[in-house]
Amino acid sequence: MATSKEPADLASVVAGLRDKIRYHNDRYYGDDDPAISDGDYDELVRELVRIEHENPELVTPDSPTQLPGAAAQSSFAEVRHETPMLSLDNAFGIDDLRAWGERMAKLVDTVATFVVEPKLDGLAISILYENGLFVRAATRGNGISGEDVTENVRGINAVAMRLHGPRIPSRIEVRGEIFMRAEAFAALNARREAEGESTFKNPRNAAAGSLRQKDASVTASRELSFNCYQLGVVEGGPELLTHAQTLEWISELGIPVNTEARSIADIEAVGLRCAELQQKRHDLGYDIDGAVVKVDDLAMRERMGSTSKAPRWAIAVKFPPEERTTILTDIMVSIGRTGRATPYAVLEPVFVSGVDVSNATLHNEDEVARKDVRPGDTVIVRRAGDVIPEVLGPVLELRPAGSKPWKFPKKCPECGGPLVRDVTEANAHCVNDECPARVLQQIVYFAGRGAMDIEGLGEERVAQFISAGLLTDLSDIYSLDAKRLEELERMGKKSAQLLLDGIALSKDRPLWRLVVGLGIENVGPVAAQAISATCGHMDQIMTAPISDLVQIQGIGPTIAQSLRDYFDTESNLAMIAKLRVYGLNFDGPLTVEKLDGAPDLSGLTFVLTGSLEGRTREEAAAELAALGAKVASSVSKNTSFVVAGENAGSKLTKAEALGVKVLDEAGLDRVLSEGVPT
Ligand code: IVH
Repeated sequence: MATSKEPADLASVVAGLRDKIRYHNDRYYGDDDPAISDGDYDELVRELVRIEHENPELVTPDSPTQLPGAAAQSSFAEVRHETPMLSLDNAFGIDDLRAWGERMAKLVDTVATFVVEPKLDGLAISILYENGLFVRAATRGNGISGEDVTENVRGINAVAMRLHGPRIPSRIEVRGEIFMRAEAFAALNARREAEGESTFKNPRNAAAGSLRQKDASVTASRELSFNCYQLGVVEGGPELLTHAQTLEWISELGIPVNTEARSIADIEAVGLRCAELQQKRHDLGYDIDGAVVKVDDLAMRERMGSTSKAPRWAIAVKFPPEERTTILTDIMVSIGRTGRATPYAVLEPVFVSGVDVSNATLHNEDEVARKDVRPGDTVIVRRAGDVIPEVLGPVLELRPAGSKPWKFPKKCPECGGPLVRDVTEANAHCVNDECPARVLQQIVYFAGRGAMDIEGLGEERVAQFISAGLLTDLSDIYSLDAKRLEELERMGKKSAQLLLDGIALSKDRPLWRLVVGLGIENVGPVAAQAISATCGHMDQIMTAPISDLVQIQGIGPTIAQSLRDYFDTESNLAMIAKLRVYGLNFDGPLTVEKLDGAPDLSGLTFVLTGSLEGRTREEAAAELAALGAKVASSVSKNTSFVVAGENAGSKLTKAEALGVKVLDEAGLDRVLSEGVPT
């Protein structure tokens, strides 16, 4: 491989590659007489990019990789789109589609033709070519501006580095979807699993995660696909009258377009084609979450125009949530950090909307009773996109004879202590502070990303340590030593040391992270930061009277009371005393780390409903707002996401009716750390 050569050698390889690329550029542009195929040319550029990437000292301003578009090299700089990258309005079912067709017809008398395309489930990208050469790529971002991912996209084989054919424009912005085919996704996950790395949940996450890499060579190592479905600015191109012509031209330029796109004259036939796509969605080899119907005639599109959010001339026909049947083998109860007892269905694994579902929450006792699902039942499981998998109910005809309604346990399945349900509450709780399940969740939460962020201390490890008697409360994390760790199964010398290093590192985390990690009810990151910044030291936080605490911006009587309750409890004080001895940082002032690559959620509206496990709704709202999102109190079709916790009520129902995406708390975590796929 070229990269293993000696430095002097490498410099000459680079020089040779640059000469070749310049020569072929001249042949191509100057002489209009290319000497190699586009594929070979792309290969040369990629090889140069790879070497330059690994040896940044070799990059020179006149390298072909730096030209044109030399200014856009720093990764993830902001790119303002020349025209906004809009979104699409949704139609649910044929009636919506007909109504849209009628609206369009009214705007222009008659719509001659539509084009129906699959709605690819990846992420939108804008790619700019100048004089036939790849110049820049940007994510959609909030539609107005996105991130500069030029270097990453340069490594994607599916994206041409130069255009070909007789009709190359001087400037063209192509827009489309980056996605990962099912086969590539399976291979990537298999590889990651073999290497002990976490796997991606679905191809869309894998595509997004692969693109937004600081290290462009990682993107290049992932097999990403690209389909163009629209043009942005075009200068010096042929006259195009229809979308079908546009797709044809794009394809002639060497840019992939989707092979399932069809021109269809009448709206009823459009509906049939949508149904057909829905039918074959699992046979395409990539994920789609609907069909996109577009008016074909470009002049008509002009007259129809756009709203600030979406063009009027196109509509996304969303597929209904997928439903499958499977056997509910058991109903179990899980115990959370706060002791909340949540029943969940154990299912024979069933593949729904792209993922294997093997369990689904049943929320609480009343919900199980309402659905009357019983072990042994055949149940209908539904999942739409990122929505929490849901057990809709039993198929009564298939119920085994003699089955009895399920009864909520009276005792905690983990510690045998009583499960207590207040008359006013839907949820039952295990009230034993020492319940191992609660302790497990508390420690996992303490070590989690939102709190002390201890690498390698996930649920499985914590469970292993608890059963080995190494952890009884979270302060024990700091008593772990190499010798005892190495005696455990699946724990080598190296991983033990890595874990201990991570634990040692966490001692110096800012005070607010420690405060979050204690898991005090109602105290999430925003409250913890306010308290730490104001009090300046753990001792002050521990002793502050309620009257002082409520003076702090953002701290109301509920949070103040929670803090007091926590610090007035003897066992908590004893645990904190141990943390002090272990040398954890108790000192403010606040140092808020700006997380690298924190996503931009501006332009998005969230509605929060139900109760969340890891944070209060107020905290979730603050976290979202910090990233630019708007948090609204009611659901409308302009809502981008509904975040649904336990016992979500009418807002969730409304979201489902309107087709607004619903996230569970894990989904929210993903959005907060990775942003949202478009
Ligand atoms: S056209 C102005 N066509 O869907 C409208 N979008 O919900 C531009 N998408 O951000 C979009 N497949 O990422 C169009 N065949 C297709 C698509 C498609 C997937 C995505 C795209 C867009 C999102 C809108």
